Amino acid sequence: MEEKIVINGGIPLRGSVAISGFKNAALPILVATILTADVCVLENIPAIRDVEKTFEILTAMGGRVKMLGRTTVEIDTRNIECGSSPLELVSKLRGSTYLIGAELGRFGRAHVGWPGGCDIGNRPIDQHIKAFEALGATVTTDGGYIDVIAENGTKGNSIYFDSTSVGATANSILAAVLAEGTTVIENPAKEPHIVDLANFLNTCGASITGAGTDVIKIKGVSKLHGCTYSIIPDMIEAGTFMIAAVATGGRVRVDGVIPKHMDCLSAKLEEMGAIVEEIDDSLIVSCPNRPERTNVKTLPYPGFPTDLQPQMATLLCLANGVSHVTETVFENRFKYVDELQKMGAKVRVDGKTAIIEGVDGLTGAWLKAIDLRAGAAMVIAGLAASGTTCVYNIGSIERGYDNIVEKLRSLGADIKKAYIAPAEEAAIS
Ligand code: EPZ
Repeated sequence: MEEKIVINGGIPLRGSVAISGFKNAALPILVATILTADVCVLENIPAIRDVEKTFEILTAMGGRVKMLGRTTVEIDTRNIECGSSPLELVSKLRGSTYLIGAELGRFGRAHVGWPGGCDIGNRPIDQHIKAFEALGATVTTDGGYIDVIAENGTKGNSIYFDSTSVGATANSILAAVLAEGTTVIENPAKEPHIVDLANFLNTCGASITGAGTDVIKIKGVSKLHGCTYSIIPDMIEAGTFMIAAVATGGRVRVDGVIPKHMDCLSAKLEEMGAIVEEIDDSLIVSCPNRPERTNVKTLPYPGFPTDLQPQMATLLCLANGVSHVTETVFENRFKYVDELQKMGAKVRVDGKTAIIEGVDGLTGAWLKAIDLRAGAAMVIAGLAASGTTCVYNIGSIERGYDNIVEKLRSLGADIKKAYIAPAEEAAIS
């Protein structure tokens, strides 16, 4: 039976919550262990479904994955077989694209099924392909698989991205660290998880400089050794809790964060009248009055993260005044608006922009978690609304949030998981 998240809303969140490791850093780093035949120990790995699926993929390929604790894992990929990732798992994860760069980097060839991921746009991989070809590989994509071959291994070269892509930047690094010669990547993504990937690989003996800037330089090395490495905290999980604190009129401290990564969101929340205090690796967020309207435009880092767009739009449904949210990264990331309208939100989408007229309150309803971040936004809406909200299709939330229900309950929310009754199934199908 499917489960739902049941929320009795209207309770201000109060207390502190420890932020887990970053999903979007863990996924490329887990796959990057393919590049060394030595053992790697990774700490602060989030306990989420996308990570579990990545463990399953590495194991199915011949890797050894051993949990040393709830968030610490030992990985040994010396016996991994190129091209053996199972299609039924690969097709469920966007993070599977990293298998291509890692196989190409280690074996000089890659055979991977077409990746999956949240349905927020068509999600092409043309920039990934451009990078692989620049490194001397030939790429074919037919029959649902991507095949990349660099007969004598990858060769260092210059790569210029037409558009900023986190995945393509990460894949280029994976394919270039063991290449013959030097690779220069221009117009790369500058997200913290790109820096984290580079730091992990440098800890394994790679020679990468400039990650997080406009130019990344990679001097190919002949071999990488194992290491122990701790993943950075999840800036999107932290942002989700910060927005929930403001939406419920509460006061929440998020612990174990890197405040710098939250700068754009913190500034935006302060613009709305919230108070954001920084104390070491914690941020304390509160909002004494009704939040004021503002405009948001999503951009690659260090701009406003697209992965916080649904959560912020939900908060703006309760702000004083009319706000505009413009989504510039993905083509189709406003599908959740229909769900908010069921609660009395006044939102309409005009092309790339959602126009949001703040209302005094939202009313609980049955809401579908359409994708990972939209699902988190529905939980925020339920926490802020009056009455009871039931969020279903919660697997899409558990892909990327570690223990979100327990963490919210520890902040005072009236929230739990429950099975969906057959009669209810009929109502929501
Ligand atoms: C990563 O996706 C994240 N996923 C996404 O997070 C995040 O929204 C996105 O980066 C942007 O920050 C993971 O890290 C697993 P992109 P990715 O390549 O790599 C276009 C979440 O909620 N593009 O930066 O797929 C693409 O269509 C998820 O955690 C091309 O045109 O994102 C999109 O419009 C959702 N050609 C834009 O670039 C390409 O070859 C950004 O995509 C590649 C991308």
